[in-house]
Amino acid sequence: MEKMWAGRFSKELDREADDFNSSIHFDSRMFRQDIQGSVAHAAMLAKQGILTQEEGDRIIEALGGILEDLESGALAFDWAAEDIHMFVESVLTKRIGDLGKKLHTARSRNDQVAVDIRLYLRDEANEIIALIKELLSAVLEQAKANKDVICSGYTHLQRAQPITFGHHLLAYCMMLIRDIGRLQDATRRMNQNPLGSCALAGTTYDTDRAETARRLGFDGYTLNSIDGVSDRDFCVELMSAFSLIMMHLSRFSEEIILWSSWEFKFIELDDSYTTGSSIMPQKKNPDMAELVRGKTGRVYGDLFALLTTLKGLPLAYNKDMQEDKEAIFDSVDTVKKCLKIFAPMIRTMKALPENMYAAAGKGFINATDLADYLVKKGLPFRTAYKIVGQTVARAIEEKKVLEELSLATLREFSPLFEEDVYHEISLETCVSKRISAGGTGPQSVQAQIQFVEDYLK
Ligand code: ARG
Repeated sequence: MEKMWAGRFSKELDREADDFNSSIHFDSRMFRQDIQGSVAHAAMLAKQGILTQEEGDRIIEALGGILEDLESGALAFDWAAEDIHMFVESVLTKRIGDLGKKLHTARSRNDQVAVDIRLYLRDEANEIIALIKELLSAVLEQAKANKDVICSGYTHLQRAQPITFGHHLLAYCMMLIRDIGRLQDATRRMNQNPLGSCALAGTTYDTDRAETARRLGFDGYTLNSIDGVSDRDFCVELMSAFSLIMMHLSRFSEEIILWSSWEFKFIELDDSYTTGSSIMPQKKNPDMAELVRGKTGRVYGDLFALLTTLKGLPLAYNKDMQEDKEAIFDSVDTVKKCLKIFAPMIRTMKALPENMYAAAGKGFINATDLADYLVKKGLPFRTAYKIVGQTVARAIEEKKVLEELSLATLREFSPLFEEDVYHEISLETCVSKRISAGGTGPQSVQAQIQFVEDYLK
């Protein structure tokens, strides 16, 4: 196929080189945005008298037809085209003749592609935000259903202190809310119109960049034409936000995998989100969670691929930058898939409160509360801490938990222990007395639920 830029060449591009150079296999997914950008550009050219109104109208109408035909499948992509920009322009010229060749006045593929990716990512980021909200509401529902379910909180994966399962789940809600905030920040910064930067230096035509910005829903236009065509940091920003989302999903996955093991058995995943083994009939594997954990590496990899691609590039456009798309498309697709599977997996999972409670009863997780008990009776915390340490050692020796030690035994360690100690160190009391803001106490948990509910409204 003859290239648009064939003029200065005396030989055709080598076939392998042509294929190597081409990006239509992956940038075709931006066809809507490419046409949307061209429509805005044509309208602006007509408004500025660079094209006549009639010319502008005819181009816009033809672009509308191309869009429609691509949507319906009546028009197929030409995989031999160099990229989506060249493809749309060549179809346009086939359909309306020489007038189609006027569309590229005061524009370059460099600003064109910069517009397309921004428009594309703006839509995708909004979709991802909606998917995170979906997951957020699923986690919130589970948190509400389990707000009084007592389990152990862990540090170093060792039983640490009693909490409610709801409190634990609400921690993920807070992460997801920050994830949304990061996407919103990045999208807001990205939402500047690069169109009109042209190849790199601007143009001699009297264009109106505010007009194309307005038509394309940008908040303004990029102030430096070189930056306008060279900048891909918005991709990197989004991909780092994606990486953080995946990091959160991966930690959550890891917990789900642990919790659904026979060693923990704190939850049961729904059959529709687990798989069996081809040989071991008893198996019910948390594959979805494992895959999400696994795909996290992929999204990190995409981020690093693009960062590395960009690091040595001189200004302005370099073909290296075509590599932005496969990386960011892959990370967009992966994050979306993971979020789509995660929300219903969480929604359908069943908590097993008895097992959580049984496990919570075993690990001396009320030891801090036993120390606090002595502190409230007048001992300095360090002294109380030491006494409780000795008490724990004794309990281990007697193969008992703290609340099973007799009052006489407890009194060997401190005369301050009285009958009320048993009530004070029950798991229920330990949780309900965690009254500090943000703690696992019922008021704080209710406040967190309220916060997430208000956020989702
Ligand atoms: N397919 C190219 C890309 O994705 C479009 C921009 C081409 N610009 C150029 N000067 N060759 O980056």
